[in-house]
Amino acid sequence: MNEMKINSYLRVLRRSFDITYRDIEAIIADFHAEMARGLKGEGGSLKMLPAFVDVARGSESGTFIALDLGGTNFRVLQVSLNGKGRAKVEHTEKFVIPKSVMRGTGAGLFNFIARSIQRFLIGHVDPKGKRRLGFAFSFPIRQEHIASGILINWTKGFTATGVVGGDVVKLLGRSLEDYGIRNVEITALANDTVGTLAAKSYEDPTCDIGVIFGTGTNACYRERLANIKKIGPRACGGSKRMIINIEWGNFNGFMTSEFDRMLDESSNNPGKQIMEKMISGMYLGELVRLVISDMIRKKLIFKGRKAGFFRDGFTTEHMSQIEDDRSRGMKMAGRYLETIGVKKANADDLRVLKRVCRVVSRRAARISAASLAAVVTWMDPGVRRRHTVGIDGTLYERYPGFRRTIRSVLGGLFGERKKNIRLVHAKDGSGIGVAVVAAVAARNAGQN
Ligand code: BGC
Repeated sequence: MNEMKINSYLRVLRRSFDITYRDIEAIIADFHAEMARGLKGEGGSLKMLPAFVDVARGSESGTFIALDLGGTNFRVLQVSLNGKGRAKVEHTEKFVIPKSVMRGTGAGLFNFIARSIQRFLIGHVDPKGKRRLGFAFSFPIRQEHIASGILINWTKGFTATGVVGGDVVKLLGRSLEDYGIRNVEITALANDTVGTLAAKSYEDPTCDIGVIFGTGTNACYRERLANIKKIGPRACGGSKRMIINIEWGNFNGFMTSEFDRMLDESSNNPGKQIMEKMISGMYLGELVRLVISDMIRKKLIFKGRKAGFFRDGFTTEHMSQIEDDRSRGMKMAGRYLETIGVKKANADDLRVLKRVCRVVSRRAARISAASLAAVVTWMDPGVRRRHTVGIDGTLYERYPGFRRTIRSVLGGLFGERKKNIRLVHAKDGSGIGVAVVAAVAARNAGQN
C-alpha cells in the first residue's frame, strides 16, 4: 500500500521535474532570443556581459599573481606562463571565507582579501618585488575595460554591503593600500567562466566556450565584435572577437515546480538566478530537502519522524554520496546521513531518498545540456565546426552521472555531430585563467 503511494508520489514528482527533448528545443529557442536581446542591450534575463578580452594565443608569457574569489574558498596563486601554451602554478594557498565576512561589509571582505594576499606574498614570494595581478571574480560585473568592473548584483551566498554598484578593482586597490601593499598592480579582472575559457584556450586554440557547474553556474563564449551591438565598434587587441559572459544562471524560461518556488522565495535573491537554483551545487541539496520534508509530512518516508528532522545540513555533496552508493543496504549513505543528525535511516528510506536525488540531479544535468547546446548552436547552428568546452566545478567533476547525462543529451540532439563538441575538464581553470587574461591584457597593451 505504502509502496504504491510512494511510487505514485515519485511519478508525479518525476513528471514535474521532467525536461523532454521538446522542452529542450523550446529552451534553446528562448535562449537564443534572450542572447540576442542581451547583446543589443535590450534587457532580458541574460546579461551578456562583454569581457573586453579575447582568448589567448598561447604565446603570452610572464609571471602573475591570481586571485580567485567566488565560492566558499578564496585562493591566491602565483602562475607562470612559458609562452608555449604551458601554465605552471608555482604557489597556491586557499583561504576559507567565514560566512560573517561573505555577509558583512564590503570593506570587511576586501580587507580579508588584502590580508590573505599579504600572507601569500610573505609566505611564498619576494614580498617587495613588482607584481601584476589578475582577479577572477565569480559574479556579474559590468566592464568597460579589462582592469575595472562594476558589480551588478551578488549571487550565491554573498551579500557584503556597499559593493553593488562599485568598482571591485578600486575597492580591492584601496584595501591593498591600507595594508601597505604597493608593489602589486591589478591589471585584469575577469569572471571565472572567462578565466576558465582563457586557461583552456592557452593550450588549445579550438576552445571557444567556458562553463562552470559548481556552487553557481554560468558560461561564456567568443562572440564576433560586430554582433555586440551594445558597445559599438571597439578594438579588442587586434582580434575580431571578444568573450561574452552570458550569466546564464539568471535564465528563467522554465516550468518550475512548487519546490523551486519555495526555494526561490526563501533565498536571499528571490526571482533571480532561477536556472542557477535548478542546477547548481548551492541549491540542489536544498531542493531534495524540500521534497523529502514534504514526503515526511505525507508519511511516505522516515515514518514516525517530524518534517523538521530532515533539517539544514543536507547538501549536494550528500546527494552525490547517496547516488554513488550502489550497495544493497546503502550503509555508506546511511553513515553520511548520521553526520547531519539523520539517524537510523532504514534501507527502504535510503532507496527512496536516492530516487529523489536522481530526479533532481537528472533535471539539473538535462538543463545544463540544453543550455550548452544553445550556446554551441548560437555560434554554429549546424554544429559543423569543432568546439572545445572548458568546464570546471564540483558538480561536473564529481557528481555521479552528471557528465554522462550531458553527453547523452548532446547525442540525442546532434547525433554524430556531437563529436564536434569536446567537453574537457579545466581543473582550477579560473585561477590559472585569470593569469592568462592578465597576460593577454599585457600583450594587448604592448607590455609583453
Ligand atoms: C555568478 C557567475 C559565476 C557563476 C559560477 C554565478 O552565481 O553569477 O558570475 O560565473 O556563479 O561561479
